[in-house]
Amino acid sequence: MSVSRDDILKELGLTPVWRMRTGVAGGVSASASGISPSASGISPSASNASTSADGVKASLPPEPTRAQVNEINAVPAREPITVRGLPKIRPLDARATQIATLEWPQLKESVAGCVACPLHRGRTKTVFGVGDEAADWLFVGEGPGAEEDAKGEPFVGQAGKLLDNMLIAIKLQRGRNVYIANIVKCRPPENRIPETGEAGQCEPYLHRQIALIKPKLIVALGKVAAVNLLKRDAAVASMRGKVHQYQGIPLIVTYHPAYLLRSLPEKAKAWVDLCFAVETMRGLQSDQPAPT
Ligand code: URA
Repeated sequence: MSVSRDDILKELGLTPVWRMRTGVAGGVSASASGISPSASGISPSASNASTSADGVKASLPPEPTRAQVNEINAVPAREPITVRGLPKIRPLDARATQIATLEWPQLKESVAGCVACPLHRGRTKTVFGVGDEAADWLFVGEGPGAEEDAKGEPFVGQAGKLLDNMLIAIKLQRGRNVYIANIVKCRPPENRIPETGEAGQCEPYLHRQIALIKPKLIVALGKVAAVNLLKRDAAVASMRGKVHQYQGIPLIVTYHPAYLLRSLPEKAKAWVDLCFAVETMRGLQSDQPAPT
């Protein structure tokens, strides 16, 4: 007996399946169980775009050696260092500056050996991130759960299955023009929200991943991702439907897939957000200079 994809999704409780309808004015329309974007009161319009870009691009020091990478990992967290004759140096700044010089192999090695915050004590595997390292799309979640911790890959549990379906719905696929990462690379105990200090120690890694990937658009999945990336404490509901900026890169906020699994009515709003993201991406891709 052959089992269809729809049967599998139904079995997993992940229906209705979202499908992109094309050929509608504006290019994209939501068709999850007959729900239309206008029903949510949010109209994905370019006039929502906010332009708070800080546009910072660090100029990078030379690539560090392996010994230096080990030294970075050994830098203890938080306490300022006093070096005679120099102003106090915050280790986080020194560490962040060094991490900003790493290329992919060193960055992965550095994350795998990281002991900068207490989360390392409870981890099975670090969860670096997965996907196309030159992707246009970057999806950022909160932090690994039990299954991600065991496998070392982000979003592989139930929430991950929903995320994969969300990607399929907008004609994307994990690993193809999409990168998936988290705010923290180690599982917080009992799946609690990562603390500010933990997210702060991990931030240079995500920051460097973003600098290497150079995504055209970041999608923050849930409040923890949005708050940590935007440095602004606000509800997801108030951050949706706008184009924010992360260091000059457009960023859109939507609900976390785990939240959507618990709050099915919000799925329609997440679909609206994805349509908005697709529309935004179309604009960004068409802004691209023509090849010479
Ligand atoms: N939730 C997240 O935020 N990230 C994961 O990788 C898995 C679940």
